[in-house]
Amino acid sequence: MQDLTVLALESSCDDTAAAVVRGRPGAARVLSSIVLGQNDLHADFGGVVPEIAARAHAERLDICVKQALTQADLPLSAMDAVAVTAGPGLIGGVLSGVMCAKGICAGAGLPLIGVNHLAGHALTPRLTDGVAFPYLMLLVSGGHCQFLLVRGHDDFSRLGGTIDDAPGEAFDKTARLLGLPQPGGPSVQAEATKGDPKRFRFPRPLLDRPGCDLSFSGLKTALLRARDALIADQGGLTEQDRADLCAGFQAAVVDVLAEKTRRALALYMAETPAEPVIAVAGGVAANTAIRAALETLSSGTGTRFLAPPLALCTDNAAMIAYAGLERFAAGQSDDMALSARPRWPLDQTRPAMLGSGKKGAKA
Ligand code: KG4
Ligand code: ZN
Repeated sequence: MQDLTVLALESSCDDTAAAVVRGRPGAARVLSSIVLGQNDLHADFGGVVPEIAARAHAERLDICVKQALTQADLPLSAMDAVAVTAGPGLIGGVLSGVMCAKGICAGAGLPLIGVNHLAGHALTPRLTDGVAFPYLMLLVSGGHCQFLLVRGHDDFSRLGGTIDDAPGEAFDKTARLLGLPQPGGPSVQAEATKGDPKRFRFPRPLLDRPGCDLSFSGLKTALLRARDALIADQGGLTEQDRADLCAGFQAAVVDVLAEKTRRALALYMAETPAEPVIAVAGGVAANTAIRAALETLSSGTGTRFLAPPLALCTDNAAMIAYAGLERFAAGQSDDMALSARPRWPLDQTRPAMLGSGKKGAKA
């Protein structure tokens, strides 16, 4: 098969991104990847404001596409197709991307490929390491939390997911409750290294129930109670209190993720993959304690643990270009009727369990 070159647009949350990827399924490389963040625009509001995000995407997508083509040193005419995130995500942002991609395709006479954002994350190990199907994927970020058994480029089984918050959200809220800087993940992790994880015993939600579903909102409430009890007792928090609270919280997240991953791995291994792989994606995968626990688990079952470079784990358009390339290579594409889908579960047999995520619907 000939190499394919795909341009992609991603605008489902608060990152405006464009990228060019070239190659074949399982053997592709990133020619360019541009991500324009919006943190400064949302900083005053304590979360992503959908309307502000959508406007920023609409204003910057064309600039982003131009930069991606320049970085790849290729003209638009060198593209074989244009891929775009068609959901799930914040509707205004997804619409901005889909409209922009349609315009490019109409103007340049290129095929249009709608991509599920979660498929982009889930197929990243094939872009970075050419991993063979089936593999196990754990998506853990500020907006996602699910275990996916990836059997093909459009064949996913969701083994479990969060029933409320995503873990990144829980880290961010914990940081906010303790007056630590955002994003909360890195600051809570740094505090935790100085703390005693046993001083506060936080709950391990859903461990008593079978299956791979997770819950993080109760943890946040437990932390709030522990903090308020300390303040009522002593009139405030000491440095050590803060560190111990972070250590206790992180230990609970690690325990829950490790146990649910152990169960997901057992389900995956039942498929007897020839070269078992567990891959992670999402900003929370940067957490060293979580990584260490997952590595221990995977090595215990002879499974390769794979963490793609962080820039490809967090939201980006290279993963969308690659997922589009897989679809296009399989003879799939869309027409101008492609619609933006704010909710779009990857596994149609297991409909989404929606939480109250700061980043919109968790599919
Ligand atoms: O994938 P990502 O960049 O964006 C989306 O959520 O879409 O993930 C960001 C999330 C934030 O909630 C951040 O606090 C969390 O990942 N995060 C971490 C760490 N680094 C980033 N959480 C725990 N430990 C970390 N070291
Ligand atoms: Zn994402």
